[in-house]
Amino acid sequence: MNISSYLPEENPFYYPISPIKMVKGKGLRIYDEQGKEYLDCISGTFNLILGYNHPEVLEAAKQQMDDLMFASSTFNSIPVDALAHALVAISPANLTKAHLRSPGGSIANEGAIRIAQHITGKRDVITLFRSHIGQTFAMASVSGFSTHRTPFPNTFPGGVQVPSPYCSRCFYKQKPSDCDLLCVTRIDDFIQYASTGSVACILVEPILAVGGNIIPPPGYFEALKTFCEQRGILLIFDECQTGFGRCGEMFAADYFGVSPHIMTIAKGISGIGLPIGAILTEERLTGLDKLFHGFTNGGWLPAAAAALKTIEILQRPGFLANVRQVGQQLLNGLQALSAKFPFVGEARGAGLMIGVEVVTLENQPDNATALALHKALLEQGLIVRISEHGRGNVVEMRPALIATEQDIHEILERFEAACQAIQLPSFPVPLMR
Ligand SMILES: Cc1ncc(COP(=O)(O)O)c(C=O)c1O
Repeated sequence: MNISSYLPEENPFYYPISPIKMVKGKGLRIYDEQGKEYLDCISGTFNLILGYNHPEVLEAAKQQMDDLMFASSTFNSIPVDALAHALVAISPANLTKAHLRSPGGSIANEGAIRIAQHITGKRDVITLFRSHIGQTFAMASVSGFSTHRTPFPNTFPGGVQVPSPYCSRCFYKQKPSDCDLLCVTRIDDFIQYASTGSVACILVEPILAVGGNIIPPPGYFEALKTFCEQRGILLIFDECQTGFGRCGEMFAADYFGVSPHIMTIAKGISGIGLPIGAILTEERLTGLDKLFHGFTNGGWLPAAAAALKTIEILQRPGFLANVRQVGQQLLNGLQALSAKFPFVGEARGAGLMIGVEVVTLENQPDNATALALHKALLEQGLIVRISEHGRGNVVEMRPALIATEQDIHEILERFEAACQAIQLPSFPVPLMR
């Protein structure tokens, strides 16, 4: 079949799309039609934690496709059964039940909220400023970004947003050393004055990802969990980006040493990008009838088989230690660049989940320069994302967890070259100061 004969002359896409057409990928690298190689520092859409087309995971998925491509979730199956056991085994000890009927992260989050509402009999959902927890109608309604609601005249009620633990730009203008964690204790004011008074859950990304790689300070999650338990509120961790080794531990819950009552996972779970999502809960939170949260492609068998192989690889000796080591190498390198280039601000990270602020000379967010840097990085063949869906000032970097020292070295070299390029007067997007 000659595909080009089907290509219409006009752009058929509803939305604008990049002129770069990708054709092939391997490991951390992806190649366009012209054969240009890009080093992907965001692992696809933060989901290819084992890089492009990891051969062992691909093989596991292909084998499952040969054996059985699909079975209704009315029935159990070999990969889904094994995956439920494996997820319970690797997640924090209190999470003993796996719900595997969601095809992705937004829907897993909606399921977690439904479970919380069903169990508590309460309704509102608290989320953090700057949290991105999905794009479905319900998730946009409770998003930490008002921009996700702007074009729609109507959204679901019941979402309350509270300040995030963003210490270097604290909402309450405090210093972490003596702030008394107002970002936890003042949630009471929001419950009293901004909610219906009936709060089912607090849903947080343990590290705010799209919001700018914001890492809560020590003690935050302990305090937040206690706050929830004293008020009969369930604490949900959205580990769609942080989970599956991204922070150098299996989950951010392990990194912070605090386990939530419910955890959602998606994105990285299948290693190479096959869609699947999961909800892990405590035993006492079971009971939501399965008819209330089930989707045709939830628990898709080839994705479950891929996820099992991914878990096996993550558990190999030294795998997560390497994530911590190369993550530190990347962080150190970016911090060194911050000393060289005035617009490169704070670099922060956990494992291979790293963000770099782009700032003015007064250390204020410099979104225009962040976009200029994004463009310069792409010219260097380095794929990154800018926070807040391209509206923010933080360069987000999440290379695949299989990155080697040499890969990180190359990423840093290209990053530095891009920084040098945007300082030149010839660079097409001027620095905004
Ligand atoms: C932290 C987080 N949660 C949930 C989602 C939504 O996942 P999905 O796109 O699979 O619905 C995303 C997607 O970007 C995310 O970053």
